[in-house]
Amino acid sequence: MRSAAAFRDVRVAVPAHGSASRARRGAVRARAADPRSVIHNTDADDTSSATATFRRRLSLAASTAFGAASLAAPALADELSSVDLSSVDPAVAGVGAAALAAAALVASRAGGGGAGPRPGGTATTLPGATPMTRGVGESDDSKKRGYLIAPPPLFPLVPAFARQTYRYEVDPGRMWFFEQKQGIGLGLNVSVNVRMTVIKLKTGGLWVHAPVAPTEECIALLAELDAPVEHIVLPTTLFEHKIFVGPFQRRFPDAEVWIAPDQWSWPVNLPPSFFGIFQTGILGQDTASWEDEFEYEMLQPPALGVASYVSFTECAFLHKPSKTLLVTDAVVYVSENAPDAIPDRDLLESGDDNNFTIAALKFLNLFDIATKAKARTVTSDDMTEAQRLRLGWQRNALQALYFGPSNLLDPEQSWARITNKLLVAPVVSTLVYENIPGEVDDWARRVGKMGKFERIVPCHFDAPIRAGPKEWNAAFGFLPSSRPEEGKEGRYYPDEDMVLLRGVEDFLQGSGVIFTDESRPKYGRINVRAEERRSGARR
Ligand SMILES: [Fe+2]
Repeated sequence: MRSAAAFRDVRVAVPAHGSASRARRGAVRARAADPRSVIHNTDADDTSSATATFRRRLSLAASTAFGAASLAAPALADELSSVDLSSVDPAVAGVGAAALAAAALVASRAGGGGAGPRPGGTATTLPGATPMTRGVGESDDSKKRGYLIAPPPLFPLVPAFARQTYRYEVDPGRMWFFEQKQGIGLGLNVSVNVRMTVIKLKTGGLWVHAPVAPTEECIALLAELDAPVEHIVLPTTLFEHKIFVGPFQRRFPDAEVWIAPDQWSWPVNLPPSFFGIFQTGILGQDTASWEDEFEYEMLQPPALGVASYVSFTECAFLHKPSKTLLVTDAVVYVSENAPDAIPDRDLLESGDDNNFTIAALKFLNLFDIATKAKARTVTSDDMTEAQRLRLGWQRNALQALYFGPSNLLDPEQSWARITNKLLVAPVVSTLVYENIPGEVDDWARRVGKMGKFERIVPCHFDAPIRAGPKEWNAAFGFLPSSRPEEGKEGRYYPDEDMVLLRGVEDFLQGSGVIFTDESRPKYGRINVRAEERRSGARR
């Protein structure tokens, strides 16, 4: 077991709000709410070493292989499920695989940017937020970050081989965040942070929300809290948060495990135990000993798509002692602060005008990007490293939210419209929530009435967000639809940035991959239940 002394945990002062750039290794970011400290493991050694370069290229190759497998999967899927995804022509799959291989090559050539100054951090949360102190430390113990995952086809989750962990103390002695990088492979370089929140209960034990990869490093950081892990909570049915619950449980076999209902797997629907998850109880059905400290409300909609059992269940928790609302993917708050978990080399690559994504967009001249490129007076080659890091974060975050904003080359306008506010991520609202507006509206209202919360902690992007029920309710203001009415501007998201996402939505709905009320199967437990609820509401 690693000792606490292995890390250098240094408290640093927060510079004045809006100060200029800060050194990456002594990074200070103004955050909201209460002071917290971070154990921050530098990636500088990784970047400079030949081993790290090899590992990175291996990871790119793996993500490419996953992507190729994803393209090849529909034929198999067609055999195994009732959903027809076999419209992908094998020739198209072959071209796609070749394109992905090219992506890996381009990315491996473009990668390897060194550590440099990141853009200045600014306050991350809603107006009135208090800047916070954040300590930094370093560790060269990169060997403890190894973690092999084997994501299924159609979900090329990366990193596949190693995950660095960052721990932040939010409330001294009571609440901590553990963050890792999570991204999509395929050479696209779209990454966000994924967050596990750990809360110390009155019993003195730990309540772990949405576990991240239990690397040796992560477990050592958790052990430093010097308290037993008593409960592990899976608040969603989504793969990205579910994948680590089984391995986490194996590290803490005495912990009780609480999972959201309606868990599923695809193309074969297997029980959680098949994935090493042995639950103590199901949220909403069984009573947990921690319920005196928490309230929770569940979103249990009908099937999302693909198959009659594929649900998008999410449980929102109110931790009453700290007045904190914990959610998974429901809302986000995006700011200038690139998460520590996304290394500089990734941001510099995103900020490079010659990266694979932009090269591909130029080649296809999507979004009229070739014309926009010609009209530019400043390119990434003219930028300082700090400017490229900022541009890289903007592109990275906007791609995660929209797939692609209207102008990926110069996304400043798109960025200004979506940052520094609490909102439902466009990708979630468009592909999920707008197809089940009644259920989402009902859930959002129930969550807003749960109790007085003063901050929100989602599993991605910034946190904690200083926001209460009023801001929470406002974030769901797009329901039942964010689509603009005839002749009017959209009232929630900028229309021009939504073009690609709405196109994807139309395609997925039209091909039956995503269900609408009309195309959703009438059979299936969760669909029958949802219909019964709707009928009850109508009566
Ligand atoms: Fe998520």
